[in-house]
Amino acid sequence: MNFVDVDDLTTDELHAVLDRAAQIKAAPTDDGDERPLADQTLAMIFEKPSTRTRVSFETGMTQLGGHAIFLGPDDIHLGHGEPIKDTARAVARYADFIMARVFDHSDVTELAEYATVPVVNGLTDDAHPCQTLADLLTIRENFGFDTSVAWVGDGNNVCQSFVLGAAMVGLDVTVATPPGYGVDDDVLARAAELGTAPATTHDPAAAVEGADVIYTDVWVSMGQETEREEKLAAFEGFQLTEAFVGDRTVMHCLPAHRGEEITDDVLESDSAIVWEQAENRLHAQKGLLVWLAQQ
Ligand code: CP
Ligand code: NVA
Repeated sequence: MNFVDVDDLTTDELHAVLDRAAQIKAAPTDDGDERPLADQTLAMIFEKPSTRTRVSFETGMTQLGGHAIFLGPDDIHLGHGEPIKDTARAVARYADFIMARVFDHSDVTELAEYATVPVVNGLTDDAHPCQTLADLLTIRENFGFDTSVAWVGDGNNVCQSFVLGAAMVGLDVTVATPPGYGVDDDVLARAAELGTAPATTHDPAAAVEGADVIYTDVWVSMGQETEREEKLAAFEGFQLTEAFVGDRTVMHCLPAHRGEEITDDVLESDSAIVWEQAENRLHAQKGLLVWLAQQ
């Protein structure tokens, strides 16, 4: 069983992972097993930088009684010294789980195809399903799922996994992006199969009408640095300012580019639940790892 994107899980399984995460968050040792992943190892492959994903997975494994190994771009042969399928088969002979943050989504699907242990997507150019678990946990805690969320910004990796997870749990979502920066058609089609596809618009003000939550992310994702000027121009009018946000709650997966997709005032305001959201990465991923170990 892998977690390459949110819809690798059935809707029931997604709720089960969220329930396990909530239980671990409320009472980490309540089920009597203080070290459910004792002596187990998570190999963490990173082709891109990370604060939250790296630290939450590593501390999560420690808290569950296991261990995590950080493998940065210069530490292993992935992709340059040997094919991905060879790395997958070798690492799976040592580690109990593999988590990977890579550029090409096909690299994580290839890892999953060849590894004989669960492979977890720690972010690709197309998807960020671990972020979605934390996002759904945060929304469930604050509002329940009978809630309206407006995504305002880039239809990027974080948005795409969120749209899938939201469709599975029945959240009402509207995605506002500039023309040319929307969610991929195949993701919209998958969301429609899973539940309800989000409404889409190019008008940020229309998207947030009636929304309880506004969610945004950077306009220039890791690996898109050469598109920076073009994207900053295209996203004019999509910034989350105090006036635009009003009394709505704000989410951001972080890291934030203050002064681009969000103002410093909004990020530092009581409207923003971003630190709760960041903390929930830890609980959500612990729930996921424990759940995967039991499959
Ligand atoms: N949200 C998120 O994945 O953050 P990092 O890039 O710091 O891991
Ligand atoms: N969309 C951002 C998310 C970072 C967690 C990126 O891919 O850089």
